[in-house]
This record gives sequence, structure tokens and C-alpha cells, in this order.
Amino acid sequence: MTSIPSGYPSDQLEAFALLATREKLSIDDMKILALLEAAGEAFYFAAADAVEREEAKDLLRRNGQEERGHAHRLLKAIELLGGEFTLPADVDNPYVQPMDLAGIINADLLNIIQQSEQDGDLQYQAWADAESNQHVAKILRQNGAEETRHGERVAQVVALLG
Ligand SMILES: [Fe+2]
Ligand SMILES: [Fe+2]
Repeated sequence: MTSIPSGYPSDQLEAFALLATREKLSIDDMKILALLEAAGEAFYFAAADAVEREEAKDLLRRNGQEERGHAHRLLKAIELLGGEFTLPADVDNPYVQPMDLAGIINADLLNIIQQSEQDGDLQYQAWADAESNQHVAKILRQNGAEETRHGERVAQVVALLG
């Protein structure tokens, strides 16, 4: 059974593209975003497995753990808005795909990731600006600020691999 609210794409990139068109997040949008954030953890853990240096692995794993944290903050935001959502196990999250990133993690890919983290921060800040519930807005801002930190860690990984 799918955990996606009806009307949303089951493809991760399409789901991101759809959310990018939202000026303000609805509760269902936040459910989708929580699933995407949980998928972000899976991505970073796969990336950590694919690099050699322990220091690089640590940085990527930390990003992964925080993506899971973002998902949990979004559950809290949904609750504050009167909704309810539980994160499914990864196997029931359509945005989590089995990933082997061995040989794929290079500076070019990491630079794209870094850019998307920075974009993610901007997007969160814009959604926070549009949110009338101040507790929810604060959650969105916290997530956003951490996306910038993720980008900084990814830049550190680039330096380590270089
Ligand atoms: Fe995130
Ligand atoms: Fe991130």
C-alpha cells in the first residue's frame, strides 16, 4: 500500500518539482516532504558507503541523520496544523530506492548536491515566510538552515576526495 497522499507523483524528482511550485505548504505537501526527507537519509547513507575516507563517510552520515530529523520535524509541523502522519518503513516509502553509489560519487555530483542543499534552504525559508503558524514556520526555518550546513559538509567531502 502506498503511503503517498493521492494526486502526488511517486517519482522523487517530480515530487520535488511539484513542491517547488508551492508558495505555501499544505498538510499533504508536508507529508510528501517528510517522505522525501526520509529518502534523503537513504541517499546520504548510500553516499557514505560509496566513499573511502572515514572522515568523508562521517560527514555524509551526519547529513543523512539530519535528513531523518527533518522528516520528524515535519511530522511535528503536521501535528501542529491538526493533521497526522506516521513515517512508513523505508520499504514502504516510494521515494526510497535501493542505491549503490559505488564509483558514482565525484566532485561533479557532489557540487550538484551542494547546490540543491542551498536551494533547499531558500525554499524552506520561502515556505516559512508564507506560513501563518509561527511554530510551524520556525520548524521550516530550522530545516532550511540545516540544509545550508549539509551543503557545507558536502563541500568538505569534495575537498577530502580531491
Ligand atoms: Fe532536509
Ligand atoms: Fe539536506
